[in-house]
Amino acid sequence: MTTPAIEIRDLSKSFRAHAGWGQLFRPGRQQPALAGITMTVPAGQIFGLLGPNGAGKTTLIKVLAGLILPDGGQASINGKDVVSESLAVRQSIGVVYGDERSFYWRLSLLENLRFYASLYRLPASLAQARIADLLARLDLQSVARVRMHALSSGMKQRAAIARGLIHDPPVLFLDEPTRALDPVATHELHRLVRERVADQGRTVLIATNTMREAEELCDRVTLINHGANIFTGSIAQLRERTHDAIVYRLVIGGGQDGWPRGLRAIAGIQGVSVDSVDSVGEAVRQLEVTMDPKASALPIMMRYLVEQGAEIQTCTRQARTLDEIFRELVQESGREVLQVAR
Ligand SMILES: Nc1ncnc2c1ncn2[C@@H]1O[C@H](COP(=O)(O)OP(=O)(O)OP(=O)(O)O)[C@@H](O)[C@H]1O
Ligand SMILES: [Mg+2]
Repeated sequence: MTTPAIEIRDLSKSFRAHAGWGQLFRPGRQQPALAGITMTVPAGQIFGLLGPNGAGKTTLIKVLAGLILPDGGQASINGKDVVSESLAVRQSIGVVYGDERSFYWRLSLLENLRFYASLYRLPASLAQARIADLLARLDLQSVARVRMHALSSGMKQRAAIARGLIHDPPVLFLDEPTRALDPVATHELHRLVRERVADQGRTVLIATNTMREAEELCDRVTLINHGANIFTGSIAQLRERTHDAIVYRLVIGGGQDGWPRGLRAIAGIQGVSVDSVDSVGEAVRQLEVTMDPKASALPIMMRYLVEQGAEIQTCTRQARTLDEIFRELVQESGREVLQVAR
């Protein structure tokens, strides 16, 4: 069996909460930022770490990168333990943050990349070839000699990715890489990550709080909230997991009195809301009908409406957006821990 790129078992980390200025010398309570995360990231995937603000995404990346020590559990990168083999782990990872501030702003991009290559002690000829390759990969050749402070946010972010790849690590962490970017720069960055960063078997772990980013980029995601993972799978599985109700929207004209009551009585129909809309002088009603997906109530509903003399003008199934699913799962996990699909 091949070694997974990232293996995490029951990882936990607490921070001491600030007790307030009034209690300067009293230690605050320990607050868990990671509360038993378990997950496996196979090599070569773009894997999403999806969660709302404060879920523990950055903390998890910092533990994996050896920047902070966990309190309990284990994590390894390509089979190497992030605590006891942290030097080897650092050689095999690159980390890129969304609010990139650690460049030397008065130096050009090229000078910055040369400096970071020297920190990894790359031989000069290798560094030169690597930098040329990265500038080409990330479409940065035209700005190589421009000082960092003059680059747009989109270019700075691509530059940060180039820097994260300077030692050619097999695993790259991107912490909310499009946080400061407009939709055009975001789209461009996604394309580059898919086509030019996650290639040659490289594994990319991307922390994000937007479902759209996860959907555009990720093969699989793990959804975390309050430091615990509440779902792991593909975005398609995430959609399925939460298909608890189907909603149809209909526009109908006419119909005998009392049909909404009859509709509510059909087995499998969980809710009916009716709005009157006046369309070119004709009384038309807009319905929203919620159904249990396990009961096949649609044909029964249609037959009933026709029998009642209603003229069905349109009937459309409402797909819930991924953001709605995300919000729902996060709210649910605030109350109880969901069954984790591993
Ligand atoms: N150095 C620290 N000291 C104290 N608490 C911390 C520290 N770092 C993180 N935390 C707390 O740990 C929890 C998780 O924070 P983390 O930054 O990992 O979340 P996140 O998912 O990255 O959120 P965001 O989307 O806002 O970046 C939060 O409650 C945060 O306040
Ligand atoms: Mg974060």
